[in-house]
Amino acid sequence: MTNYLSFTDDHHLKYPFRPIAFHALKTSTMKTRKSWAEPYKIKMVELIKMTSPRQRLKAMQAAGYNTFLLKSEDVYIDLLTDSGTSAMSDRQWAGMMLGDEAYAGSRNFYNLEKAMQETYGYKYLVPTHQGRGAEHIISKLLIKKGDVVPGNMYFTTTRLHQELAGGTFVDVINDEAHDPKSEFLFKGNIDLKKLEAVINKYGAKRIPYVSMATTVNMAGGQPISMENLKAVRKLTRKHNIRIIHDMTRVAENAYFIKEREKGYANRTIASLVQEICSYTDGATMSAKKDALVNIGGFLALNDWDLFEEARNMVVIYEGLHTYGGLAGRDMEAMSIGIRESVDYDHMHARIGQVLYLGDKLIEAGVPIVHPVGSHGVFLDASAILKHVPQDHFPAQALAAALYINSGVRSMERGIVSAGRDAKTGKNHYPKLELVRLTIPRRVYTQAHMDVVAESVIDVFEKRKKINGLKMVYEPKYLRFFQARFEPLK
Ligand code: F0G
Repeated sequence: MTNYLSFTDDHHLKYPFRPIAFHALKTSTMKTRKSWAEPYKIKMVELIKMTSPRQRLKAMQAAGYNTFLLKSEDVYIDLLTDSGTSAMSDRQWAGMMLGDEAYAGSRNFYNLEKAMQETYGYKYLVPTHQGRGAEHIISKLLIKKGDVVPGNMYFTTTRLHQELAGGTFVDVINDEAHDPKSEFLFKGNIDLKKLEAVINKYGAKRIPYVSMATTVNMAGGQPISMENLKAVRKLTRKHNIRIIHDMTRVAENAYFIKEREKGYANRTIASLVQEICSYTDGATMSAKKDALVNIGGFLALNDWDLFEEARNMVVIYEGLHTYGGLAGRDMEAMSIGIRESVDYDHMHARIGQVLYLGDKLIEAGVPIVHPVGSHGVFLDASAILKHVPQDHFPAQALAAALYINSGVRSMERGIVSAGRDAKTGKNHYPKLELVRLTIPRRVYTQAHMDVVAESVIDVFEKRKKINGLKMVYEPKYLRFFQARFEPLK
């Protein structure tokens, strides 16, 4: 009798598109992959519009050369962000119909609380409308004027809330994170020497918590290793300092630990996520990423007293503590999304798609951040537009050029995003001047990635024709969202 299973080894039967042999990873990850297929089929489609180069130039001029100010209907492939842009599953949509829209004590809150506790292991839940709602509350509760908050690279909204609460953010990420060419596999790691120096300089009393993100968005979606996290826990415990976890992409971080870190290959994503959370004291979550919803977030805590204060404060800024600015249906979709996010096949395909795009660009010689991160491919704009000085916003200009070329929308992650120093008012000059091609989850196909790659390569070949920009309008907070630019001659 034929043994059909003998035609293929078991692993390839289960994972026919097995893309990632990270242990052997240098730059390209394509070599071990056979073929690709997303672990879902499409039940409903959203039509998108094709536009002409002339229409796109007009749209970009009207948007002040800021991709945030484009109308989404003028965008062909939207890689602005992975935030709130993922496709929900049929189960999540079914959950939307089970919304219990009671003002207080909604059934969906209790489902969400259970999903959060079972998946992440934190004890107490305060829902918020999105991640920055939770950042606002925790910053207000824990940070006093003059405090210092060390973290593994800043995130825009996180740092702003820390500053508005009176704190100063100090970057303690390892040096490799600032070098786009470094192949280090855990660029999200905290440099323990830098952290210790901050503790020695300011004293533990002035450090309300260490702000630790999984993965590190601004470094290119780079993960922190379990080993590093354990060491940070040890050091912070010694000094009695909390770790507040920005767990926005924790399942993606867990996937990288499983694939790259020695000793974790046989662990499930779910158990790794739990272990990561167990080394921290609380978390802010933007559920719009990992948790596969279009809106939602929460603050998770283990300390009852702190939770009581947070539960009280959320009423002022977000809504009652059993909805925190969300509809019951949103909480239901989130509770289902949280559980889907720790599924291996989902994460394997999600990150596999990002790597697929990254590999195409690497092969074409386009300078990007190495290694490719979890939620997007980050173009190294300072290497691509060598002729444009940082004061002329090379990443902003590159993102605009890419849109005009093909209708692909990306985002600046460089000097515009970095903003100004809260005290001196001077521009921050980040070492990374990047354009982020952020991949929404379960939304685009491999064919879309091919089109994106072709467009980026085309723009790269014409890079000498791209001029810098000048900023003609600068809003006070988080300027990258609303700033306007004009091309320099
Ligand atoms: N932390 C990280 C690491 C994030 O990436 C984001 C959002 C937030 C916190 C804030 O969460 O948007 O729900 O209020 N990042 C989006 C992005 C905006 O495009 O990277 P939010």
